[in-house]
Formats: sequence, structure tokens, C-alpha cells
Amino acid sequence: MSESNLKDMSELVSLCKRRGFIFQSSEVYGGLQSCWDYGPLGIELKNNVKNSWWKAMTYREDVVGIDASIFMHPTVWKASGHVDGFNDPMIDCKNCKERYREDQIDTAKPCQKCGEKDSFTEARDFNLMFKTRMGPVEDSSSDVYLRPETAQGIFVNFLNVQSTMRKKLPFGISQIGKAFRNEITPGNFIFRTREFEQMEMQYFVKPGTQKEAMEEWKEIRWKWHLDNGLRSDMLRWEPHGPDDLAHYADAAIDIEYKFPHGWGEIEGIHSRTDFDLTQHQQFSGKKLEYVDQADNNKRYIPYVVETSVGCDRSLLAILCDAYRIENEGDKEKERVVLKFHPKLAPIKVAVLPLVKKEVLDAPARKLFSDLQQDYKAEYDVSGSIGKRYRRQDEIGTPFCITYDFDSLEDDSVTIRSRDTMAQERIAIDQVKNYLLNKLKF
Ligand code: GAP
Repeated sequence: MSESNLKDMSELVSLCKRRGFIFQSSEVYGGLQSCWDYGPLGIELKNNVKNSWWKAMTYREDVVGIDASIFMHPTVWKASGHVDGFNDPMIDCKNCKERYREDQIDTAKPCQKCGEKDSFTEARDFNLMFKTRMGPVEDSSSDVYLRPETAQGIFVNFLNVQSTMRKKLPFGISQIGKAFRNEITPGNFIFRTREFEQMEMQYFVKPGTQKEAMEEWKEIRWKWHLDNGLRSDMLRWEPHGPDDLAHYADAAIDIEYKFPHGWGEIEGIHSRTDFDLTQHQQFSGKKLEYVDQADNNKRYIPYVVETSVGCDRSLLAILCDAYRIENEGDKEKERVVLKFHPKLAPIKVAVLPLVKKEVLDAPARKLFSDLQQDYKAEYDVSGSIGKRYRRQDEIGTPFCITYDFDSLEDDSVTIRSRDTMAQERIAIDQVKNYLLNKLKF
């Protein structure tokens, strides 16, 4: 069986729309640039990605989770350096007004949109934070920002968490939540958007041990992507040189995925030193030191190793990686299949009565109701069985169960595997056990 990968993002955008994964935001109004809505299957997939991360990143003795608010005291962003330093260099074409990020284009060449030569303005710093107002009073003291990273909610809660959970270094705090950046050039579907979700963990360590911690977390994070089913040859490490380090980092490395538009970052692992906690201590006037009982009650500000993965970007990599066309060009045998790792598949099992007949409907529905107690399941009775299998392949359902006329006699059903298309006959009272074995992770 020949198999090809996704060649163009537009194929995936179309499948995601057709099958209820991802829709353009406000579509009936013509859409809103770079904003996307997750549909019924998309949200299942997204929740499964989040669960996979949450389990890997908090079901450990040394890591706990939080959920901080999106709005934070405005001084947080002064302290963190985002007000002054979270900028991209922006240039405009004087002729057609197209806007570019200076570091993403060759300014010696003509404008990509209108073809005008020497038409670019000087580069200006453009701050990526969205500003809004809190409360009914329109004065500058009520200005607040939508957070551009979730990390700061963790830093300002460092001592709350450490003291209430009685944590000793090294320990980590994990969080999943929305972040907002007024990107100059969003695009490539959900790769770069202005509203997205991050899954971040700050690991607080004794100064001097950060290199070791970074190595450990690099290994854990690489493995997480593989455990989600991504193929290792579609992933690579991309270290940051001294010139592309963020203002808070002394070392950083990205995990990149080979998207149809090229290699792109899905996760960053950063050694953030004691920058953030030191800044918050200074700006808030509150001590944020750790008292190290294992080292003569020495007081110091911990160093931090951060792992930061975009939920939407990771999900996009999972979709791209799962997308396969089998027997391309062969009218009879061609099929598009999303070969998700079963733990991520939005629907785990579909129950399909062979034909639309009342005599099959009642017992098939009973089986469906039973399975639904444990799994996200679908019941589908419309169209030929072949078409229904193809639809389940396209949404990545690992197992389809067909209830036919023989089932009425032998109390058995046919289970079809998405990946091999092999079919097995199984007693109905064994179906739950069968799925339990195949879907345990
Ligand atoms: N706290 C560190 C931090 O925010 P980052 O490298 O700027 O680091 C981390 O972002 C991850 O967040 C990226 O690897 C990416 O997956 C995701 N991300 C960043 N900007 C994004 C955007 N505009 N759209 C979607 N995901 C984004």
C-alpha cells in the first residue's frame, strides 16, 4: 500500500472545515484574519492534546499546575520587559501599504505584493501586546494587556505555590492557557495566529544547576512529541544563537516540525536564569527568595528552565503528521486517513449498523450507548458502509464496529481497524475488553 504525506496546507484546511475540526472565525461575516474556531472534532482533539501534556507535565511528584488569569497587573509587563522589549521590526511598502516583518523579507528586493522597487519605510519597533481598558473609566491608569505569554502568571505565583504545596527545589509549575500577540504577519492556518494557547512549565532550580535541568527537560519534551505519534524524521532541534535569544534567556533551543510550508518552531526550551523573579522582586518590592533548608537556610532567587509549547501549533503538527493519502491516484483504492495516535483521536469508536433497518437499529444503539459511557463514540447509519468507513478514516477514528444481520443470530460484530483495514469478528460481550486493550495508554 503506497502512502503519501500532506503536500499543501490548503488540503488540510479544507479537510478540517469539511469534517468539523476547524472553521474560520466569524465566517458568515467573511471571517476575521488569522482567527479560527475549533469545531466539534477539533475541540475533542485539542482537549486530548492538552490532556496528553497535562498528564506528562503534572503527574509527577516535582510538578504542580495552576490556572492564572489572563489580565494581570500592568506593572507585570514592565517588569518582565514586554512593554519595552517585546517588539518586532516592522516596515511598510510606501506604494501599496503592505506591512512586513523586516526580519522575514529581503529589503533589497521589490515589494512582494505590488512589485515596487525601493518602496520600504525605515523599520520601526512594533509592540506585540494587545492593550485594552479595564473598568468603565477611560484613563491610562486602567490600561491592561492581554498576556502575550502564560509564563508571568507562574512567576508571580512562585511563592504562593511553593509555600502552600511545601515544594523544595527543584520543582515546576505548569499551566495551559490563552496568550495573545498582535503578530505583524500571522498565517499558515493555525501556525501563527493572534490568539493562541500555550502549554508552559517553569522549572525552578538552584542557580548553577540549570544546564543539567535543561538537558533533562529537552529529553522529556522530545519524547512527548514522539509519544503523540509524530515521526522523528519530521522533527529537529534548532538552537538559538546569541543574537536570537529572547531578552530573558541565556540559552534556548527549539523543537521544529517539518510543516508543508517548511520547518517551523513548535516548542521552545529556555534557560531564563533568575531574570523574571529578580525583576518582579524589584518592581513589586516583595521578596521572592527561596530559603534552602538543604543548604544552611541560604536565601536566593532560583533559576528557571522553561518548556513552552503552543497547543495549536502542536495540534497542527499532529494533524499534518497524521494526514496520509493511500494509493493516491487509484480511483478504487485511494483513501485519505488521519492516522492519529489513538489517544489523540477525537472519536475512538464508531458503531455502524450495516443498513438502515429498525431490526438492526435497536441492538446497535444499545451497543453504542454502552460504549459511550467510556469513549467518545459516534453512531452513523446514513449512506453505504464503504462511505461511512471513509468518513471515519478521514476523521481518524481508530475502530469501526459493524452490526449486521448475522449479529442478530451470533451476538457478534465486525471490528475494523483504521490503519490496517483488517476486520475481526468479535462477540459483543468482548467488545469493551477488546477496546480497553487497544486503547489503553
Ligand atoms: N514563554 C516563552 C514563550 O512564550 P515563545 O517562543 O515566544 O516563548 C512559545 O512561544 C510557543 O508558543 C512557540 O513555540 C509556539 O508554539 C507558540 N506560539 C508563539 N507565538 C504564536 C503564535 N502567534 N501563534 C501560535 N502559536 C504561537
